[in-house]
Amino acid sequence: MLSIEPTGQVLGATIHGADLRGDLPRHEFATILRALGEYGVLRFPEQWLEADALRRFSARFGAIQVLKGIRHHEPGVPEVTVLSNVRVNGDLIGAPDAGQSWHTDMTYSQTKGFVNVLSAFKVPMRDGKPIGSTEFTNTQAAAADLPADVITRLDGLTATHDIEMFWEYMRREKGSLRPPMSPEMRAQRPPVHHPVLMTHPITGRRVIYVNPGFTTAIDGLPPAESADLLAYLLDHVMQPKYRYVHEWAVGDLALWDNLGSWHYARPDYGPDEPRLMKRCQVMADRIFDPAFVRAALAA
Ligand SMILES: [Fe+2]
Repeated sequence: MLSIEPTGQVLGATIHGADLRGDLPRHEFATILRALGEYGVLRFPEQWLEADALRRFSARFGAIQVLKGIRHHEPGVPEVTVLSNVRVNGDLIGAPDAGQSWHTDMTYSQTKGFVNVLSAFKVPMRDGKPIGSTEFTNTQAAAADLPADVITRLDGLTATHDIEMFWEYMRREKGSLRPPMSPEMRAQRPPVHHPVLMTHPITGRRVIYVNPGFTTAIDGLPPAESADLLAYLLDHVMQPKYRYVHEWAVGDLALWDNLGSWHYARPDYGPDEPRLMKRCQVMADRIFDPAFVRAALAA
């Protein structure tokens, strides 16, 4: 029997009583899916999910993204990316700097990102407290507070999302050694357009679906007007009242809903403070199908 312990903050809950390593009963998956929409960030203590179990659990939510050309995946399991600053014989075993600016995963993709599933194996600690925490902001709560005239103005508008903006930011601001995007890479990942306001497929609530990482413009507006409106929305979502800090514990399995939040991985730990996570990114290829949601929640 699962029990849900909300953080009491704007996001976050701990779910007790789950064993995510085995075959999760359908009614437990229904509870988790509903809680994911409601609380946005879920923590399951003491799971220690290794790559195969992580992949199997993640696939319940949709197709797992396999990033071509990314080196840091679990050997033999391309769906599982290793995020880590740990070195073995001088070589990094994972991607050391993933997510260190505000964004929502995969909004630059035609098929949006849905759930991130992370299994924590090493969590840096300092003065008895975990560091390397992940910050979130709740775009469902922020949407609920938008003034009616802004909602009217945004209704029917779309925004452009482009991975190249983030790519160049990492090169410019974060010292990333990645080369500029080549014409081939650009052709593989052209800019995409998504509605600015979206209905969350689990909760049915309105969501603000733009983010600081990938959204370049509100479509169909003069550039200055687009920039002002986008800045207004980004500032609105970033208000402290919508924000939540998720602290990791070793053995945790954590899920977060990309459709209703932004996140940011705090880079507040050093190279001698090991952090190691294994991750699956699940696409929103099924969650916008009402039949899938109905069946999953009805179980
Ligand atoms: Fe991310």
